[in-house]
Amino acid sequence: MEQSKREIIVSGIRPTGNLHLGNYYGALGKFVKIQDQHDCNFFIADLHALTTASDPNALHANVKGVLAEYLAAGIDPEKATIFVQSDVPEISEMYLLLNMHVGIGELMRTAAFKDKARKALGITAPTSGDDDEAFEHEIIGASTNKRVNAGLLTYPTLMAVDILIQKATKVPVGKDQLQHLELTRRFARRFNSFYGVDLFPEPSDFDFGGAPVKVPGLDGSGKMGKSEGNCIYLIDDPKVLRKKVMRATTDEGPKVPNSPMSEPVANLFTLLELTSAPDVVEHFRNAYADCSIRYGDLKKQLAEDILAVTTPIRERIQDILANEDYLRRVVRDGAERARARAAATLAEVRQIMGIRPL
Ligand code: TRP
Repeated sequence: MEQSKREIIVSGIRPTGNLHLGNYYGALGKFVKIQDQHDCNFFIADLHALTTASDPNALHANVKGVLAEYLAAGIDPEKATIFVQSDVPEISEMYLLLNMHVGIGELMRTAAFKDKARKALGITAPTSGDDDEAFEHEIIGASTNKRVNAGLLTYPTLMAVDILIQKATKVPVGKDQLQHLELTRRFARRFNSFYGVDLFPEPSDFDFGGAPVKVPGLDGSGKMGKSEGNCIYLIDDPKVLRKKVMRATTDEGPKVPNSPMSEPVANLFTLLELTSAPDVVEHFRNAYADCSIRYGDLKKQLAEDILAVTTPIRERIQDILANEDYLRRVVRDGAERARARAAATLAEVRQIMGIRPL
């Protein structure tokens, strides 16, 4: 009874590298908190990773790595369904079917697609306006032998299927994924109205309450991101981590009391606020305000406080990675649960679309 009333949540992560503090505070840590009260489905989006991956061995290792990191951060396979996307072949089949209701125009206008297509072609975004015509010309490949793979274009279809095949109603995603979620809603509405059915609920962004956590990188500006090269990884060993923090960008220091903070220094304080005790944060704020601050001291403290968070996680990651049987058992059970619901939805979709047994 209780079980079936819980809200269905789906969230995927592309296995393209190790998880960092931004992933932890922005997503993982929050997932851990909601897994008791909701029907949570967390998966490793290896098929999505294929749209940009080039090294099969690295992809395989990353699937395992991210899985271990999820478990080490506290995602509990007894509470949440945790699986690998490609272990649920129903997703691939429904992806083919849903593509029949998706327009290439709407896919081409997606911001993430444009961004990745430009990267694949090695061209930079136009500085003024959006030169769609020239861009489309490039994508078609009239003037280059570089290719934008079709999987990149249909990425949003696959993501919509991940969500709709579980009939999820809430999807925790970052800001950069909101457009994909909007497309998912549109595809759900379109399918329902085209066939005159009420099959798919329209999913919305999961609201964790409060302001979204922004985790800055160590390079002075912007957020932590693996392509930015400014990350603290959950698996960084203490030596590496301390070195990274000590090298973080700062400025020359405040010259007059109560100076405004430059972005690099404000970023260090943001990290401090995430990981340190309130009195520690206050101590350094006061030191900044009266110009007595030494950034070296702040960084030393920050590194130790981050280590207090990451060390137990890193140790668990290592234990879990060493236990292949456990990892296999987790994804086998997860896939079984995910497939049960996926197969039921796929059967409905096939029937509705007219793909029926003779
Ligand atoms: N596109 C998401 C990202 O890059 C990953 C993802 C794939 C996802 N399928 C999903 C997220 C379904 C939420 C729901 O972050």
